[in-house]
Amino acid sequence: MDKLTVNSYAKVNLFLSVLKKRRDNYHSLQTIFERISLCDKLIMRDRADGRIVFTCSDNRLPSDERNLAVKAALAIQRLAGKGRGATIRLIKKVPLGSGMGGGSSNAAHVLTGLNKLWGLRLPLAKIVSIASQIGSDVPFFVYNRSFAWASGRGERVKPLSALKNKVLWHVIAAPDINVSTPLIYSHWDKLSSGKNSRLSGLTRPASNAKLISLAFKEKDAFSLSQIVFNSLELVTEDLYPQVGRLKRSFASLGVKTILMSGSGPAVFGIVSTRKEAAAVAKQLKDRYRVKFAVVARTV
Ligand code: C5P
Repeated sequence: MDKLTVNSYAKVNLFLSVLKKRRDNYHSLQTIFERISLCDKLIMRDRADGRIVFTCSDNRLPSDERNLAVKAALAIQRLAGKGRGATIRLIKKVPLGSGMGGGSSNAAHVLTGLNKLWGLRLPLAKIVSIASQIGSDVPFFVYNRSFAWASGRGERVKPLSALKNKVLWHVIAAPDINVSTPLIYSHWDKLSSGKNSRLSGLTRPASNAKLISLAFKEKDAFSLSQIVFNSLELVTEDLYPQVGRLKRSFASLGVKTILMSGSGPAVFGIVSTRKEAAAVAKQLKDRYRVKFAVVARTV
């Protein structure tokens, strides 16, 4: 094989509860990841000269090791041995710094893609271990599943087979801002410390991952509003009022299940049909002048 083209799907978090700050400054959390059809494209080609050459359709992204895709390529190249090279082209569609795991997905797909392209046959466990060193959200994408439960800092992943054939329809919108994940976590620390610690909404530990995932399986788009949760939503909204405004726009269009993804600022609504999703996306653009509003489904 000398060329591979793959979709690098994004994610949303249907549930994200931040539990506490750890000694290593990461935060322990519980989350449910859902892979969605919104995606970037990665085109990988083998190179005989042993170099990693990376280009991207979006020139705001660095093309050196600060880019998670390049970091992933160099990490797997170290295992593959010198002489292995690749040209990697990234066509970016997922908004940057939006909480939908675009960069993490790119890294995961470079790992699995180069493993295939170079015929390395590294086992899944090995790839997951490299992935977790690149970023907390990277292992989820390596598992190649629609839904997963994750804990630790997000890197301990258990695919949710109970939700195997479940398909949800989403409208996904993002305000035109780039949000720094470390900034949001440090603001969570601030809001959850001292007398604010009793503020509801900053954490909601799930006692049983199975129960919560089963609730997702059985509920319709409407009653899901009782289950979805994100500890970081209030935190990001506190710093970026655009997120709250966007949520209110969704609500005014009749969407009942509305949540921010990851550390934001992307917001998604869950609706019952593709048609409903398309109508809401159009209204967000026409009536509320939201630049990025798209339909996406579980993949
Ligand atoms: O793991 P990743 O490199 O994507 O994390 C980026 C930053 O987000 C971390 O440096 C940390 O500040 C914050 N983070 C956290 N707890 C997590 C995941 C990320 O504090 N579970």
